[in-house]
Amino acid sequence: MEQIIREIPKAELHLHIEGTLEPEMMFSLAQRNNIKLPFKDPEAVRKAYEFTNLQSFLDIYYQGANVLCTEQDFYDLTWAYLERVHADNVCHVEIFFDPQTHTDRGIPFQVAIQGIYSALQDGEKKLGISFKLIPCFLRHLSEESAFNTLEQALPYRDWISAFGLDSGEAGNPPEKFARVFQKVREEGFLTVSHAGEEGPADYIWQALNLVDVKRIDHGVRCVEDAELVAFLREKQIPLTVCPLSNIKLCVFKKMQDHNLKQLLEQGLCVTINSDDPAYFGGYMVDNFLAAQKALDLTAKDIIQLAKNSIHASFIDANKKKQYLTAIEAFA
Ligand code: ADE
Ligand code: ZN
Repeated sequence: MEQIIREIPKAELHLHIEGTLEPEMMFSLAQRNNIKLPFKDPEAVRKAYEFTNLQSFLDIYYQGANVLCTEQDFYDLTWAYLERVHADNVCHVEIFFDPQTHTDRGIPFQVAIQGIYSALQDGEKKLGISFKLIPCFLRHLSEESAFNTLEQALPYRDWISAFGLDSGEAGNPPEKFARVFQKVREEGFLTVSHAGEEGPADYIWQALNLVDVKRIDHGVRCVEDAELVAFLREKQIPLTVCPLSNIKLCVFKKMQDHNLKQLLEQGLCVTINSDDPAYFGGYMVDNFLAAQKALDLTAKDIIQLAKNSIHASFIDANKKKQYLTAIEAFA
């Protein structure tokens, strides 16, 4: 099973690049940029990663992102991630980044996107990993700040496939950004949104009806609304589920309680992703393995999950066909 999970071609569709900042890199970038960290060493950083909910994680995560200052920093971060998931046989990635986390501390939008995009281009050339890039609006900030971020992104429209919505969910419904996402769609981009991670099923409805999302990020609380589950199945709206993240942030008490298998059995287009691997204890294969062991996923389930990751991606039909053929051949 471990070999199947490792070797099967797969796409990662829910990955915050800032969440791939390993403690060792946090220290080396802090040194490079003359930033003092409130930790003695990388081990102390790891010890601090005991989260009780989404907000307790976000507080530490935004603090960690402060070491990212130059284009080279963003390049190095992204390149390290690509090399890591290459070893997991990830063939395609769709990467989130949070522009406001950087622009709000004086790092220009351009610095972040240039560094990330250059590394993604090199990843395609040198590692054969195709990619899409998805800036996310921070939902705890204002609509005005999101509009402002969209303006800054427009000169880079050719590098961007979709816009997303992330950060603290409770009290920040998709509804708050309906007008921003309307403009996003008018500009020709796709939309995705975190919903139903900590927030209620109603936020998933809002993401569908007011943001017109093509995927729901997390979405595990959809089970609280049978009509919603039926809708997600009928329309095959993908859920980008992140098993280790959900356990680390106490969305489920333990992996055995996770509803991933239940959602898969109900015919939903479920995918497995790592969210913030440096903070949650693992990359793609780690997430697959943890879910497989706890939920007794079969080889057939693993193949379905890999196929779902291609179906749910934003790559063109031809390329999808190529990847699906590769998965079939492996299967
Ligand atoms: N930003 C990074 N990881 C996130 C998550 N799991 N939920 C919301 N915002 C995030
Ligand atoms: Zn996320």
